[in-house]
Amino acid sequence: MVPERKDNGLRVGPYELLTRLATGGMGEVFIARRTGAGAFEKKVALKLLLPHLVPDQEFVHRFFDEARLAARMNHPNVVQIFDVGESDGRPYLAMALVEGISLGRFLKVVRAKNVQLPLPIVRLIATGLLEGLAHAHTLKGTRGEELGVIHRDVTPSNLLLSTAGSVMLNDFGIAKAAINEHETRPGRMRGKYAYLAPEQAHRGRLTLRADLFSAAVTIYETLTLVSPFLHPGDVQTMEAIVKQVPASARTLRPDASEQMAKALERGLSKKPEDRFGSARQFREALVDGPVATAPELGELVQQLCGDQLRVFHRLEGGSASPGVAAPRPAPVSPAVAPPPRSRWKPLA
Ligand SMILES: Nc1ncnc2c1ncn2[C@@H]1O[C@H](COP(=O)(O)OP(=O)(O)OP(=O)(O)O)[C@@H](O)[C@H]1O
Ligand SMILES: [Mg+2]
Repeated sequence: MVPERKDNGLRVGPYELLTRLATGGMGEVFIARRTGAGAFEKKVALKLLLPHLVPDQEFVHRFFDEARLAARMNHPNVVQIFDVGESDGRPYLAMALVEGISLGRFLKVVRAKNVQLPLPIVRLIATGLLEGLAHAHTLKGTRGEELGVIHRDVTPSNLLLSTAGSVMLNDFGIAKAAINEHETRPGRMRGKYAYLAPEQAHRGRLTLRADLFSAAVTIYETLTLVSPFLHPGDVQTMEAIVKQVPASARTLRPDASEQMAKALERGLSKKPEDRFGSARQFREALVDGPVATAPELGELVQQLCGDQLRVFHRLEGGSASPGVAAPRPAPVSPAVAPPPRSRWKPLA
């Protein structure tokens, strides 16, 4: 699984692997270090394509598509790609190391600790997600042409929350510019089922509105801690996506405004044309009150997920890339009291 040992450490191209962060659906993610002249050193997150995918040329192409598209993006709500390459036949991607945790893991901790997220924190996460998407959706090519980028895999595991309070969209691994659509082999289902848009479940033609649906599912879950379509089986989950109308978010979070609940409802519309026309319109409708500051979110991430963040501090030299590492944040008010446990079960 791990590449061969060369010199004193495990090396991939010019990078030395320091520790493994996680294994995802397409690759293994490591903290790695690149060194250079004059004691230059930069820590990065390095994603190595899983070995069993390498013989599959579609996956390899998809991996390089991720790099090519994502490298064009330069936005505080999108994880920056630095470099791409191949080492011993395994493609890799070097990206900004985000000292933090995915929203997916964060929500698991929030549930386990029996707390709810304060509304301003939910608004900050939603704002980051939708601004990152707005950047991707409006990305232009070198001749100023619209690239029509669609993420296609907007899920809590692809949104990173840093200890400095940044909210960053990751993993344009299955994003394809619409102009490349014909290259996508039809019929291969991508993304995680509970976040798929109905048109993805039907394997229909996708527009940016598919991302808005997945973003609405992600934000609904961040607000209520309930994944609105999740069932034990994939088939039931897909059926729910296509047919089931989730309860208003206000039945689970009565403190949320009618405006916020309505915006989520519109984002979750089965028909793409009934959703918002852009990520920015969605954000404007949804974010109806005070938004937490980045230090407040950073403090909450550190407060709730300290154990899982240790991996970043075990390394010699401590923190991650500049701009991502945490300044000492201001204190935040504690998360508010949770609803009764029974309310958190997935909707029947
Ligand atoms: N740039 C990064 N900086 C820090 N941690 C990262 C970075 N990219 C990914 N990770 C960590 O690695 C984990 C796995 O990411 P990865 O994208 O490989 O898998 P996934 O999102 O769980 O599944 P999928 O392959 O379907 O996207 C993330 O949850 C996050 O904790
Ligand atoms: Mg991912």
